[in-house]
Amino acid sequence: HFDRRDSLWLFGYGSLIWKADFPFLERKPAWIEHWSRRFWQGSHDHRGTPEAPGRVVTLTQDKGARCDGMAYRIQPEVLRQLDIREKNGYLREVVPIHFTATRSAEGLIYLATPDNEAFLGEASLTAMAGQIADARGPSGSNREYLLNLELALHELGASDDHVSALAAALPVIR
Ligand code: BEZ
Repeated sequence: HFDRRDSLWLFGYGSLIWKADFPFLERKPAWIEHWSRRFWQGSHDHRGTPEAPGRVVTLTQDKGARCDGMAYRIQPEVLRQLDIREKNGYLREVVPIHFTATRSAEGLIYLATPDNEAFLGEASLTAMAGQIADARGPSGSNREYLLNLELALHELGASDDHVSALAAALPVIR
């Protein structure tokens, strides 16, 4: 059995929900409180290019809100690998993580704030959906990222109004 002192919880709310391409000891559906998931971070390295950045998720502080996702118990050295994968302006922050069946724990989130260069912020639903429909990067299309996220949340028995509204606003074909 692993040593609990040599592991930490990481809460995934974006691609980490469906793309766990890193070693983990355990994973559990989880949520965090007072944060909302928003497609406000620009992606010029994964789901877009410098010329046509895509939009990916970050978290914004939102009193009383709940953000559902997946928590992973990882060994600390895995963070180094994730820091490289998520290099596009994300910071780490420590937050309480809530689980359905067991008590809560402290853990980490990756967070992109307005002071990073790639941050895009809010735009109209139509503008954000249009940008997502047009963008594609080395990790695939931005449309696929949004639809993967919507599906992964659905499979968790969760939903997110912001994600659903963007998916519904996607132009059928560009
Ligand atoms: C996540 O899925 O939690 C995540 C999103 C963006 C950057 C890093 C991690």
